[in-house]
Amino acid sequence: MPRILTGITTSGTPHLGNYVGAIRPAIAASHAPGVESFYFLADYHALIKVSDPARVQRSTLEIAAAWLACGLDPDKVWFYRQSDIPEIPELTWLLTCVAAKGLLNRAHAYKAAVDRNVAEGDDPDAGITAGLFMYPVLMAADILLFNADKVPVGRDQVQHIEMARDIGARFNHLYGEHFRLPQAAIEEHVATLPGLDGRKMSKSYDNTIPLFCSRNELKKLIAGIVTDSRMPGEAKDADASNVFELYRAFASSDETAAMRKAFAEGIGWGDAKQQLFERIDAEIAPLRERYEALIAEPAQIEQQLRHGAEKARVIAKPLLAKLRDAMGLRDLGARTATNVREKSKSALAQFKQYRESDGKFYFKLLDGDGRVLLQSMGFDSPMKAGHIISGLKNRTLALDDLAGSATVSVSATAREVEDALAQLVATKD
Ligand code: TRP
Repeated sequence: MPRILTGITTSGTPHLGNYVGAIRPAIAASHAPGVESFYFLADYHALIKVSDPARVQRSTLEIAAAWLACGLDPDKVWFYRQSDIPEIPELTWLLTCVAAKGLLNRAHAYKAAVDRNVAEGDDPDAGITAGLFMYPVLMAADILLFNADKVPVGRDQVQHIEMARDIGARFNHLYGEHFRLPQAAIEEHVATLPGLDGRKMSKSYDNTIPLFCSRNELKKLIAGIVTDSRMPGEAKDADASNVFELYRAFASSDETAAMRKAFAEGIGWGDAKQQLFERIDAEIAPLRERYEALIAEPAQIEQQLRHGAEKARVIAKPLLAKLRDAMGLRDLGARTATNVREKSKSALAQFKQYRESDGKFYFKLLDGDGRVLLQSMGFDSPMKAGHIISGLKNRTLALDDLAGSATVSVSATAREVEDALAQLVATKD
């Protein structure tokens, strides 16, 4: 199944541009059958830009609540907070050791900061943190850890995806084929919204409309959108108008056609803005209500995120173990990799049940060489784990029915799991 993954930096308050350009299309895509979607709050990335701790915390809460309010289903997707996954910074270091410094020197954001310094006659690296320099490696770790195939991002992020490919390919070349190489998915048909001043809606232009401001404030902000000075009754060019462009991002094609006609017939700016306000509010009002309920219970959002991290780590932990081994961070008492490879393949696959320090009960399916084929998530009781194991053993439970309670290890294929299970059934006494 193709995996889609994207991160949202937790450095601000979600605005209508984020909603139309990222949240709405991502949630729609997550409902499509036959994909696995990973959405995460990139709070480590936020630290590179934001030094106010309260703002990092607030933004993380607001963005998590916004995605949930807009209909993200955490049971269907992987929704987690980057800093809850210790495997991400761990992988960042492993990748740092293979990433070419020259590649990072070419990163747009870093280069722009250096160019600014040089233009001002400063030291080239004045005020530049190593975090900004390493940004692309952290992002590569986010992506490669989950073997994402597609990464939906804005144009400004495409270079980062190319760097992730580059770093992943270099790792594969040195240590074996561990990573799938991701591709950027630029949503061509998704609108970029104009902001209040007509430039692209963006936090850095201070021209945004917050996604969940009150109805009154929404009305006030829309009334303040810059227009030309044409009077009511004068024909207006819909295609040159921010008001029309915003309207179109929320309206059906019929409504859009009607508005285009009204522009040609000289609708007044006040009327057009009123209709724009009503149209946006009709879509946002139910979401706003959910958002307010969610944000009033931050402890519940915290719970959801922790649960999401647990689910994500079912994938992350075994991959990281494999990478450590590939690079030589190994148990000194264990046989060397060469010996393991030479060992006969005759041993049977087996299920192992165990309990972790989080107090939860896990199982995994190992092949004859001890390689993990299937890894479960943590259960509250050993019976639950045992129940799934017996379902798999007596084949009343298919791999497709596991729904995240256990996943095929990235180092294995569904086919290998099926074969191992078949072998277990065949040799049962
Ligand atoms: N750098 C991205 C942005 O600013 C956010 C991000 C962090 C991300 N990690 C990611 C996006 C991994 C996609 C994949 O928009």
